[in-house]
Amino acid sequence: MRVFNIGIIGYGGFGKFLHHAWKPLENVRVVAIADKNMDALKVPDGVKAFNDWRALLLEKEIDAVAIVTEPSTHEEIAMACMEAGKHVLIEKPLAITLPAAERIVQTRDRTDKVAAIDFIMRFNPLLQTIQGFTQQEIFGKLRRVDVENYAQDEQLPPEHWFWDSERSGGILIEHAVHFIDLVHFFAPAKILKVNGLKHNRNPQQEDQIIANVLYEGGLIATHYHAFARPGFFEITRIKLAYDLADIELQGWIPLGGTLKALVDKKSKKVLQNCPFFQETDSSLIEDANDESRPKGWGISDQAGSIHKNTVRSGGLPYEVNEILTGNFRLKQSKQEVYADCVRASLSDLLKKIENPGHSLTASLETGLESLKVAVLATESARSTN
Ligand SMILES: NC(=O)c1ccc[n+]([C@@H]2O[C@H](COP(=O)([O-])OP(=O)(O)OC[C@H]3O[C@@H](n4cnc5c(N)ncnc54)[C@H](O)[C@@H]3O)[C@@H](O)[C@H]2O)c1
Repeated sequence: MRVFNIGIIGYGGFGKFLHHAWKPLENVRVVAIADKNMDALKVPDGVKAFNDWRALLLEKEIDAVAIVTEPSTHEEIAMACMEAGKHVLIEKPLAITLPAAERIVQTRDRTDKVAAIDFIMRFNPLLQTIQGFTQQEIFGKLRRVDVENYAQDEQLPPEHWFWDSERSGGILIEHAVHFIDLVHFFAPAKILKVNGLKHNRNPQQEDQIIANVLYEGGLIATHYHAFARPGFFEITRIKLAYDLADIELQGWIPLGGTLKALVDKKSKKVLQNCPFFQETDSSLIEDANDESRPKGWGISDQAGSIHKNTVRSGGLPYEVNEILTGNFRLKQSKQEVYADCVRASLSDLLKKIENPGHSLTASLETGLESLKVAVLATESARSTN
């Protein structure tokens, strides 16, 4: 087994979490950390520590570097890492502007290093299952994704870099890219149109923002993010509307959700084989009551003669047998799922280093694509105020 020596640049909240979560990985040794604020930090045993990240790059034993600094620094650090011969795992967002992100991609191509973005949601087993359902069109086509995220700002004082657009890019670029990428993961399609709206609490703090995205094929996604509430009210809902199902996932690291679906024998079997799914109710279509029209509502003879097992959705006919409801639930805690995801993300990068034929789950191109939406929506939101 090849053991990889890893350096971490940026040893703040998330850098420390990555180090902690990666400890069980037998093929990973974090050998060095760098942080401009190193003097104020406790250096873990057996790890070299640097104030200047450039010094970390001189360490020949380091194979790959995780870049976990604030977003505006990703470009310079990522490019220097690859120029120094290191593979890189870059935190989201890839960069805060599109030209900067493109320069990172060009540097990867020129240096031939392995580079990935840390889109951890792509490694969540529940989201991977939903992606499989979506790609196989188990519930027909995905028409709508609606992300609603009320985040706490109690740990984000006004002077935090998060509020400084020159350092973070703003909420959509710094944060929403995770969810924008999730839509691209579920149902990749050409971006046709993007716009946005925002609100500023004061001139320095843009605290509510929304992005609307239209994709080729008709999928419309909305991303609402507000950093404004106490932690008690922190909530994330990801609503997915398919031709034959509504799914609502809860949590920013989704651990569960609800489903209401029209199924045939094949899609029912797929659900029965899903280890995270538990059916709560079901009825045969002929016994089910469609309450969208009150009793006595006039219905044309033609419509009345349509067989109940044929439904039309999104203009398409579907044959279904049952309507059912149920819940998705992962068994692990949020902490365990989050840690599993960051381990899987690093392992994916290392797999690509060992086997160049391996296809990365979160390539830099995915980082570029989600950044494109975030940048366009942010520009649109800011231009309307
Ligand atoms: N993938 C995820 O789930 C996830 C979760 C949280 C944060 N993040 C990302 O991780 C990055 C860091 O976020 P955080 O919450 O840890 O921020 P943070 O402010 O807690 O930590 C950043 C650290 O980087 C250091 N730093 C900044 N500029 C530096 C430089 N030029 N040289 C050396 N050190 C420097 C700071 O001193 C600080 O210790 C951001 O890009 C953020 O979006 C990703």
